[in-house]
Amino acid sequence: MSSNLVELRNLKVAFDGVEVLHGIDLEVKPGEALGLVGESGCGKSVTWLAALGLLPAKATISGSVRLDDREIRGGSRSVLENVRGGRIAMIFQDPSSSLNPVLKVGRQISEAVALHRGMAAGAAKSEALRLMDLVGIPDARRRFDLYPHEFSGGQCQRLMIAMALAGQPDLLIADEPTTALDATIQAQILELLIRLRAETGMATVFISHDLGAVSQICERVCVMYAGRIVEQGSIEQLFSEPRHPYARGLFDAIPRIDGPRNRLIPIPGTVPNPKHLPAGCSFAPRCMRAEEGCSHERPALEAIADGRALACFNPVPASQAMPVKAKILEGV
Ligand SMILES: Nc1ncnc2c1ncn2[C@@H]1O[C@H](COP(=O)(O)OP(=O)(O)O)[C@@H](O)[C@H]1O
Ligand SMILES: [Mg+2]
Repeated sequence: MSSNLVELRNLKVAFDGVEVLHGIDLEVKPGEALGLVGESGCGKSVTWLAALGLLPAKATISGSVRLDDREIRGGSRSVLENVRGGRIAMIFQDPSSSLNPVLKVGRQISEAVALHRGMAAGAAKSEALRLMDLVGIPDARRRFDLYPHEFSGGQCQRLMIAMALAGQPDLLIADEPTTALDATIQAQILELLIRLRAETGMATVFISHDLGAVSQICERVCVMYAGRIVEQGSIEQLFSEPRHPYARGLFDAIPRIDGPRNRLIPIPGTVPNPKHLPAGCSFAPRCMRAEEGCSHERPALEAIADGRALACFNPVPASQAMPVKAKILEGV
């Protein structure tokens, strides 16, 4: 029996014969918060959409997705419907993808509660009110009968989180939940996610390109590049000493509050098109540390001595610490 809540093994996804996810191995332990970072198009969303059976029919998926040691990939509709919402809930950047614009919000949340927990109407309504209150909607009783457009963007995101909590999930996948919001509201939603996890004990997968936010929420991070995990370790490891040149590049590209005002160093180039992946390491064409062999052979993700996993032939040396330690780590 494994101690993992969710285990992905060699998960692959192709669209129209083009592979975009090349064998993801990942585990989420009960109650833990795992960050998934990487530039847009690296496969962060597709990983979890595939795991939950939410990709369009044209997607070809292989590999294993285990929940509590039970295989759910390719499971029947009823198995997956029970998993979604009831065991694993997913929230997205755009709340309008989850809220129905023509239904009153209270009704939507009550129906989700009734569906997942088999409550009668009266009890479901009380629970919906409790959830609206829990996610910080002021005056929930009065606002129960309003429509989504009568709430601000940040409040819609709170309502979507309330919907996600309706089934008391063991794992919440938050896919860039704050990207569309302005900075103050982003911070409030992050605080809400941190508080909810502390109060409910649910595990969280936090998908974001905002490394500061990831460091506030997560204990562990996976860095993805072009459909693969390239580095995986604790927040402290990744933030104080990223070893993969891509991970290092992501950190060098974020502004620091402390230290000298160094110029930000963006990673040159862009994520490759999955149709035309370079031979060898996918990152080699953009990599400052690439050597001859890197464009011929692909490095596998392997555990290294300090417990992290790394896929690189020529990683940043362990002693070469970050020039300026990230101030954002203070939030950890
Ligand atoms: N429905 C789809 N049809 C075809 N290609 C898709 C679809 N969804 C995602 N992709 C492709 O899969 C890759 C990974 O996408 P995605 O997981 O959305 O990236 P991320 O979430 O990291 O920004 C990208 O190359 C993207 O273009
Ligand atoms: Mg995405």
